[in-house]
Amino acid sequence: MEPRIDAATSIAEIATRYVFDPPRDDDPVIEFLSPEELAQAFAGVIPIELGDNVPARSAEALASAAELVVRHSVHTSHPRFFNQNFAGPDPVAVIGDWLGAALNTTNATFEAAPVFTLMESALLRKLGRVAGYPVSDEPGSLPPGLFAPGGSSATLYALQLARHRHQPDIVRVGASADRLAIFVSDAGHYAAVKSAALLGIGMDNVIKVAADDEGAMDVTALRAEITTARERGLTPLAVIATAGTTVTSAFDAIDEIADVCDAEELWLHVDGCWGGSALFSSSHRHRLAGVERSDSFVWNLHKMMGVTQQCTALLVRDPGQLGPCFATGADYIFQPDKLHAEFDSGDRHFQCARRVDALKLWLTWQAYGDEGFEARIDHAVAMADHVRHRIRSSDDEFATIVEGDFSNVVFVWVPPELRPFDLDSLAPDHHAALHVLAPRIKGRMQAEGTVMMGYQPVAEINTFRFILNNSNVEPADIDVTLEFISQYATEEWKGV
Ligand SMILES: Cc1ncc(COP(=O)(O)O)c(C=O)c1O
Repeated sequence: MEPRIDAATSIAEIATRYVFDPPRDDDPVIEFLSPEELAQAFAGVIPIELGDNVPARSAEALASAAELVVRHSVHTSHPRFFNQNFAGPDPVAVIGDWLGAALNTTNATFEAAPVFTLMESALLRKLGRVAGYPVSDEPGSLPPGLFAPGGSSATLYALQLARHRHQPDIVRVGASADRLAIFVSDAGHYAAVKSAALLGIGMDNVIKVAADDEGAMDVTALRAEITTARERGLTPLAVIATAGTTVTSAFDAIDEIADVCDAEELWLHVDGCWGGSALFSSSHRHRLAGVERSDSFVWNLHKMMGVTQQCTALLVRDPGQLGPCFATGADYIFQPDKLHAEFDSGDRHFQCARRVDALKLWLTWQAYGDEGFEARIDHAVAMADHVRHRIRSSDDEFATIVEGDFSNVVFVWVPPELRPFDLDSLAPDHHAALHVLAPRIKGRMQAEGTVMMGYQPVAEINTFRFILNNSNVEPADIDVTLEFISQYATEEWKGV
């Protein structure tokens, strides 16, 4: 079969144009269509559904389909995209990803990925040093962790490592009858609960420790929950401290939590999926003080650092534990006597085929350097500070629900009759009306393609969340966004 170079070339032209000249300014953040309208738009070019007989399409038809894909996708690098804990990727990372795809290999072995295995080890050692882990630079020493396909998977692996330390024969004989318990704050990510479900620990045995109003774990409550769990016959296994919660970007007091884990002999896992990158900034790294004491630390470079999804490092204090926990010694791939088998990471990992995520991170890091990475974090927090400033000086038109001091700001638009806003004395009908307002505003943003911003209930009211990790955002974009919200809110409030 001849490769379709004609098709690939025409798609590449569209993709390259998009990477170097993505939508901005007055361009829509999304040209929103319903599922039916999307199906209809594609029907005239190449239907989305694949019938029983799929014909080979012309390069022109494929190019038109690619144009439609671009047109109706969400433009995450648009400076009015604040929707998620990721945003537009850095162009170097995108092209690095393409290069990795072109070289299509697995990072499991030196044999299949000589350059990438070395890059991955180097990145893990550098990330480990940034986190303050004891990293050995001795030739042949194990890198302090592995790359994983996302923060949720890395959480699963970390908890399996914790379980393995607790019961070293678990991989052969299966789990003991111990009813294990994991502790995470009630502002922590749901990856903890999902992992517990998959590991057979059970969702009910993930103890949600109270967090304060900002979203940071109450460490006194943690101590009490551990005691209660023991009294209930549970065996405490691990504490997950969150460095940068998903909604309010709060940081748990890792050092204090590490003291608890030391005293109770528990595994300390730090979920730095969102806020781990604060370590790149000398102004913000103090937020993770104590992370060097953790047993494992997950860090999503695909969130704040603008590396394409996914790019996740799971750092571990004791890399020697990875092999016993994950190895099966398959003799058709991990032959110990082949050239440089000591660089094979595959048997220290759960995955077999594994994307070379290291390449795009390595290229991006080398392109910007440590200083560029620091500037990216500082810019994100400076933009969040601008949001806080604009809300404070809005004559009570907006009110923060959780102001925070890092990258996220949780806020509401306040109807004129409720200014200045006092959440605690809100009448039930106003509470209910405000709760339904945010989804309506969001619907207007999407339909008109002006802004993408998420909402979530905080204090049982749907609140908006500015997430500042998009490096294209400047103060003017924030100002325009607040103007759009003000306009939509004023119009929609009349109807609620
Ligand atoms: C704090 C936190 N932990 C874990 C995750 C899960 O990471 P991933 O989406 O890579 O699975 C997220 C995702 O937003 C997160 O914010």
